[in-house]
Amino acid sequence: MAFLGCGYLGTTYAVCFAELGYDVVGMDVNAEKVAKLAAGDLPIHEPGLEALLRRNLDSGRLRFTTSYEDIAEFADVHFICVGTPQRPDSDAADLSQVETCVTDLAPHLRRKALILGKSTVPVGTAEWVETLVQRHAPPEAGVEVAWSPEFLQEGFAVEDVLRPNRVVFGVKSDWARDMLYAVHKGVFELAAVEDREVPVVVGDFATAELVKVAANAFLATKISFINAMADLCEATGGDVTLLARAIGYDDRIGPKFLRAGVGFGGGCLPKDIRAFVARAEELGVGDSLRFLHEVDRVNARRRTKVVQMVAEMCGRTSGPNGPDLSGLRVAILGVTFKANSDDVRDSPALSVARKLMRAGAVVTAYDPEGMIPAKNVVPDAAYAKSVNEALAGADLVCVLTAWEEFRHADPAALAELVSHRRIIDGTNSVDPTLWTGAGWTYRGMGRPSI
Ligand code: UDX
Repeated sequence: MAFLGCGYLGTTYAVCFAELGYDVVGMDVNAEKVAKLAAGDLPIHEPGLEALLRRNLDSGRLRFTTSYEDIAEFADVHFICVGTPQRPDSDAADLSQVETCVTDLAPHLRRKALILGKSTVPVGTAEWVETLVQRHAPPEAGVEVAWSPEFLQEGFAVEDVLRPNRVVFGVKSDWARDMLYAVHKGVFELAAVEDREVPVVVGDFATAELVKVAANAFLATKISFINAMADLCEATGGDVTLLARAIGYDDRIGPKFLRAGVGFGGGCLPKDIRAFVARAEELGVGDSLRFLHEVDRVNARRRTKVVQMVAEMCGRTSGPNGPDLSGLRVAILGVTFKANSDDVRDSPALSVARKLMRAGAVVTAYDPEGMIPAKNVVPDAAYAKSVNEALAGADLVCVLTAWEEFRHADPAALAELVSHRRIIDGTNSVDPTLWTGAGWTYRGMGRPSI
């Protein structure tokens, strides 16, 4: 197997499929990244992955290359794992990496092989990839295309690949379907040993592509729904954490993805819902996804809301240009888009940091894993080496990522470090009674202030 693109997706898949016993090569055009991976050095923070990378490099089942000739010669299945970021000029997905990797690989293919799409793409991409293959691969090779979306969550990526809750195959032929079953044999065998079953959904290209974006649109909607309920709770004195628990007991609704807070971020949900809307508009069914605009807007308002809360708690007034926070010292705990990750892509925490600074606040941030990437994105904030250092002299503390370290912090000890004992819990993850007991004024998201 070859995995084209050694980013988050490709690296995790390459390592996990080597772990399942396949002979794997990871391919990337970035020679520096390939050299690092080949040396057992993982460029991302993902629990458990580096140990598996090293073990499989040592076993000889896994290697990395920059060469299309190499993978064309080596592999029966070529997984497309390249990025599909938001285009700079619109909400649509940028498919240039998919195009480049397919058109660069195809001419080197000499025997029948499967090009298997994993990247999240607008519906219709698999058909287009098929036309690219027909144009660029030697016709006698009989190369086929299939699509099988991934659902991995950062922080649980290894588990999600080895023990998926379902697999989806978008195919056009029996040969491609049989190849996909063979490709996942290791996944099915592991499930059988553990007395589990992995459901398989086999369908056409369009359905397989839509499954991924539909799943992400649903998750994003669920989060924005609970954040909208948080506004209602705040307006009425209710508590959204209790509301979420109560509605979550209905198993038609379920308890997951109902954590109100600063909203969703990351490399997937925000860009995927926008690209989905853009694609629906191209297809003439934009009206059907108009609600996703609202999902996006609810989400964006979470970030401005934190800034308003800071102003309210510190008695700052708002002018036509928003609140004036000049000179206010704000400590930010958490800069990554979620806990157990070093990813700061579209991080709500960094967006809040930027808005606070724009309003005149002096921001000092701390995060257990995300400091280096955060410095690249928001270089003008100050970065502290610990929670204690971040809080020294602060007028207000904002918890913006739900790291365990913050939940277990001692509010009594921290109270000694700050200028004013004010905390905004943007993640609803710290215990309000503990903090108020230590003399702090607490505000959560969609909860009564104490
Ligand atoms: C997501 C999907 O879960 C995954 O299936 C898909 O393949 C890629 O996108 P990921 O980006 O790793 O995965 O993050 P996820 O755990 O889904 O969280 C997304 C964002 O939503 C985070 O910012 C998180 O903090 C936020 N979130 C999540 C909430 O605000 N409330 C919740 O209840 C859950």
